[in-house]
Amino acid sequence: MIRLVIFGRQGAGKGTQAARLAERYRAPHISTGDMLREAVAAGTPTGLQAKAYMDAGQLLPDSVMLGIVKARLAQADVEANGFLLDGFPRTVPQAEALLEFATVDVAVNLEVPEEVVVERISARRVCEACGQIYSLSSPPSRDWICDRCAGRVVQRDDDKPEAIAKRLAAYREVTVPTLEWFDARGLLLTVDGLGTPDEVTARLLDAVDARLAG
Ligand code: AP5
Ligand code: MG
Repeated sequence: MIRLVIFGRQGAGKGTQAARLAERYRAPHISTGDMLREAVAAGTPTGLQAKAYMDAGQLLPDSVMLGIVKARLAQADVEANGFLLDGFPRTVPQAEALLEFATVDVAVNLEVPEEVVVERISARRVCEACGQIYSLSSPPSRDWICDRCAGRVVQRDDDKPEAIAKRLAAYREVTVPTLEWFDARGLLLTVDGLGTPDEVTARLLDAVDARLAG
């Protein structure tokens, strides 16, 4: 059982790495961004509300996010195996609320400088059906068709320069203080997110295993 929160700038590789950690620790990967994109695609009331915020690069209200995450963490797979939370919490009120209804063993900060994430985001492509992450340098094996589900692999609606700048500003303003909040509680582990995805995974597993053992 592991209860881990993964932080990092937009494009740092949270989604890429959380999917790999989920396999290794057999815990569900819970990405609030993926959940919202699914809600948008399905046209649910939450999705209709979320789309405008996301396309503008703005955070959704804490109350909406808390409702979504609380419901997800109440499910049986979380009870049995824990969670790898990706994209939540990203404000101090979200962090405070999370720790009222869940335990967090470790919070990881995947550190990648701003100039590198901007390049990674512009090269990112995702499957519009299952959310699988690709990039111009690691595309699916044929014609931008998802290897996993045969969905269409496209650019994310919020991966446009204007929205990217706003998302990075929100990170500096409200998410960095959230990281500091975890650090003050002795829960934060910072891991270098540069290098190949495999190198980063190895570094993450070493750091998290050492923390859980110690
Ligand atoms: P979300 O989907 O969480 O987006 P984000 O935080 O902007 O993070 P990204 O998904 O952009 O980056 P990532 O770190 O996952 O990088 P990835 O692995 O894809 O949130 C979207 C929106 O939803 C928010 O803006 C907000 O509106 C709303 N929202 C969500 N949660 C919320 C909350 N809690 N409160 C309020 N609103 C919320 O990697 C990026 C690219 O780099 C990929 O192409 C990948 O292939 C490539 N890559 C990965 N690792 C490497 C490597 N080591 N070397 C080279 N390339 C790499
Ligand atoms: Mg992501």
